[in-house]
Amino acid sequence: MSENKVFAVILAAGQGTRMKSSLPKVLHKIAGRPMVCHLLSTVDVLNVQKAVVVIGPGMEQVADAVAPHHVVVQKKQQGTGDAVKAARHELTGQTGSVLVLYGDTPLIRRETLEEMIRLRESGNSVVVLGFEPDDPGRYGRLIVDENGLQEIVEFKDATEQQKAVRLCNSGVMCIDAEKLMGWLDQLSNDNAAGEYYLTDIVAFARKEGCSVQVVTGTQEELSGANSRSDLAAIEKIVQKQLRQKFLDQGVTMTDPDTVYFSYDTVLGKDITIEPSVVFELGCYVEDHVEIKAFCHFEGAYIHAGAKVGPFARLRPGAKIGAQCHIGDFVEIKNSTIENGAKVNHLSYIGDARIGEKTNIGAGTITCNYDGFFKSKTDIGAGAFIGSDTVIVAPCTIEDGAMTAAGSVITKNVPANALSVARPKQMILEQRAEKFREQKKILKENLQNKG
Ligand code: UD1
Ligand code: MG
Repeated sequence: MSENKVFAVILAAGQGTRMKSSLPKVLHKIAGRPMVCHLLSTVDVLNVQKAVVVIGPGMEQVADAVAPHHVVVQKKQQGTGDAVKAARHELTGQTGSVLVLYGDTPLIRRETLEEMIRLRESGNSVVVLGFEPDDPGRYGRLIVDENGLQEIVEFKDATEQQKAVRLCNSGVMCIDAEKLMGWLDQLSNDNAAGEYYLTDIVAFARKEGCSVQVVTGTQEELSGANSRSDLAAIEKIVQKQLRQKFLDQGVTMTDPDTVYFSYDTVLGKDITIEPSVVFELGCYVEDHVEIKAFCHFEGAYIHAGAKVGPFARLRPGAKIGAQCHIGDFVEIKNSTIENGAKVNHLSYIGDARIGEKTNIGAGTITCNYDGFFKSKTDIGAGAFIGSDTVIVAPCTIEDGAMTAAGSVITKNVPANALSVARPKQMILEQRAEKFREQKKILKENLQNKG
């Protein structure tokens, strides 16, 4: 049993200079989550004994992001072998397998890692994940012979013949934990880069007569993020995967390529989504919801059968009840819209409760902020808020109450009352006609003078 323990070491000490960012590379987000956290979530489903992330000095932000996973600090970056050495005190005395992964290669599939672990546990001391990229570029090359993997040659150290090999090193390895400790001691930096290469352990293993095998992964899962272009390419892959997941699950999208999800978006069944909709973090949509074009959601919960959009913005804490209608140019923040209520046009609803089946007229605004404090608006069930009502919070409008169009409501409105809070309308007979005559004369006088 103890033989089957798996430990993961994730290398993430690199500065990622090509990202041109003050943020450590592995914290750049894909589908709303730092790339290293994507990788860790895959590692977590493998039920590893322990996952250790190797970071550089001053990368406390990475430590926070990966908690409760352990981190170790590699003081000076002297190569991938040196990075694994930095984690060795977390592994000493252990038996089983050590899976070495890169924090900037976040899309690796669980199935690929499981295959590597299975091969490792069936008598191979080292299993290396290889791939055949369209452009082998400067990747390390895998030199294979009839007994498996013979050695990994870094591009900088490769002969022309070795550079012609298309099978490349992804960097991911699964290694016998006990043997790894001895091999780490043997690493030297006598090479073109002056670094301690982890890849050298392949040759050590073969020299000792140990078996070393290659598992081949796909180019897509081994895409690494070294630049903003790479990051965008990885985002594209993940968005494609998320869209496919939802299509397979019973979501209709008229133009899936224009709909963007977060890693944690939850959608039910029989939902329709029109083009150009963005789901930021923390969105949950129940069955039979219709989402029209150009909506933006973050931290929103939409209950079954609601219709939202086009052009609706739901911000954190927006809870849209079953069968509600939320229409165009409506912004809702930290508010509960209870079942069957309607906010159909041009409104801002913040820090509010809108009761069941209440109708909010076009242009209604809840004034929830006075520059210092936020206040709540509470509107009961079956109420009717006239168009262009401004509700100055804190304010309660009870069940069944109405407000007249254009009202500025500053006092509570009791149940079933009608509140009118606007200047009385005056009618000045023939006044418009007089106005026009006066202005006409004024203009003619001015033109004559000029
Ligand atoms: C490495 C492999 C190469 C492989 C390539 C795949 C070695 C010697 N070479 O080369 O065969 O084709 O990855 O992308 O392993 N890191 C540390 N500390 C260090 C150095 C690196 O944590 O001192 C981390 C980096 O943050 C990165 C990963 O290790 O996540 C790989 O480092 P990088 O410098 O990119 O290695 P390559 O030279 O690309
Ligand atoms: Mg690299």
